[in-house]
Amino acid sequence: MFPIHRPRRLRNSASLRRMVQENVLTTNDLIYPLFAVPGESVAKEVRSMPGVYQLSVDKIVDEAKEVYDLGIPAIILFGIPETKDIEATGAWHDCGMIQKAATAVKEAVPDLVVIADTCLCEYTSHGHCGYLEVGDLTGRVLNDPTLELLKKTAVSQAKAGADIIAPSGMMDGFVQAIRGALDEAGFEDIPILSYAAKYASAYYGPFRDAAESSPQFGDRRTYQMDPANSREAIKEIDLDVAEGADMLMVKPALAYMDVIWQVKQASNLPVAAYNVSGEYSMVKAAALNDWIDERRVVMETLTSFKRAGADLILTYHAKDAARWLQA
Ligand code: PBG
Ligand code: ZN
Repeated sequence: MFPIHRPRRLRNSASLRRMVQENVLTTNDLIYPLFAVPGESVAKEVRSMPGVYQLSVDKIVDEAKEVYDLGIPAIILFGIPETKDIEATGAWHDCGMIQKAATAVKEAVPDLVVIADTCLCEYTSHGHCGYLEVGDLTGRVLNDPTLELLKKTAVSQAKAGADIIAPSGMMDGFVQAIRGALDEAGFEDIPILSYAAKYASAYYGPFRDAAESSPQFGDRRTYQMDPANSREAIKEIDLDVAEGADMLMVKPALAYMDVIWQVKQASNLPVAAYNVSGEYSMVKAAALNDWIDERRVVMETLTSFKRAGADLILTYHAKDAARWLQA
């Protein structure tokens, strides 16, 4: 029997293909991560992330203008402090790096949405995402004392001008704790983008170069999720929704497309996918060797996140993608 159905009919021309295209990537979907370091006129390329830089606040402002001019609606800020300590002072201090960068960016580019990453790992002497007693080498972060530090961090970031708070430490009760603290401080209109399903992933390797946030002992498996689990992701999502999250994130993205899809089905909140550092660096390494067509691989990957259900994509490719979308 000769085929009645010939799906190729709808692939006959570029215009036809355009008509039946189901998912579209736009610049509106993109969020660009930036790393703020102390100093002035500092732009230090991250060894494992070609094209990504640690930037002093003045350079962050230049970058923010460029990002805004490209039509990208938002940045997410990470901070690398001058000094680290057991209480993660640099995270919640009003003169912390995220705070300084947020204030400067909001003054220079008021319409650019500034998202503050809320965690302690860049600021603790041991590199874990929470509070540990002095001398504790187990890496088993103390949950509730950590929340107290994170509440101060979120409020101080909002005070500095951050438009969105993004809790990323995978502490239990994180969203509820900072929602309460923000409300109490008069920031009831500041939304929370929760890193709701964040896995203990090897794909974060290059980020830890960029953020200088590698744990000095142990690993993050007592707080980040086991990559083998997806039902547990829904449990995390349900909790964060109940605790008041406004948006949800899945991280990493590429190896977790099924999780993005399930989170999208399980909630009615906007879903963000974090196309993490290791995913970026693999593409960059292959592209620099001329092994792949960088532009096509990046656009295919970002479009696939949309297909999987992501509404927003945090990606180090954001500026390139925005340029390619214009062309
Ligand atoms: C930790 C944090 C991580 C990333 C952002 N915040 C991961 C980690 O070190 O455990 C990873 C981002 C990336 O890899 O691009 N709070
Ligand atoms: Zn952390």
